[in-house]
Amino acid sequence: MTSALPHLVRRFFGVLRAAPLGPADQTEAAVLLREAESGLFWGQPRADQRHGLECARAVLAACPGRRDLARAALLHDVGKRHAGLGPVGRALATTLGFLHLPAPGRAAAYLAHTSSGAADLAAAGAEPLVVAYARHHHTGRPGSITPEDWAALCRADHA
Ligand SMILES: [Fe+2]
Ligand SMILES: [Fe+2]
Repeated sequence: MTSALPHLVRRFFGVLRAAPLGPADQTEAAVLLREAESGLFWGQPRADQRHGLECARAVLAACPGRRDLARAALLHDVGKRHAGLGPVGRALATTLGFLHLPAPGRAAAYLAHTSSGAADLAAAGAEPLVVAYARHHHTGRPGSITPEDWAALCRADHA
């Protein structure tokens, strides 16, 4: 947990302070989305929309032209919308998860955002890379994602 702490603290304040996406941001996200994924992305709280877009930007800056990686970054946390938790609830859920303690209701949904998001994306017809990154981004690189692509995605998520 110690190594993840700075990231978690940054995310806590990021969720707290996130401004809604402006018109230019919305266009930037929209060009990366397929129609069936729109509800998944725009159904997220604004902090998660902004986080996804910032990750996509970081990936494109590191890997120009990699639309597939940018889409994986943009959509990786869509499962969090099932939990409907604010910053404090998220911090508590994350702490329970790190301590391997049982998580009730919405905290459990939050901790399961990788599998629920991957299932949502698969149902929407997203490509395997997008589904695989959503499913594995808190565990470890699956064989279907190259080490280089995985490193770019993880760097963007933890920037
Ligand atoms: Fe996540
Ligand atoms: Fe993330």
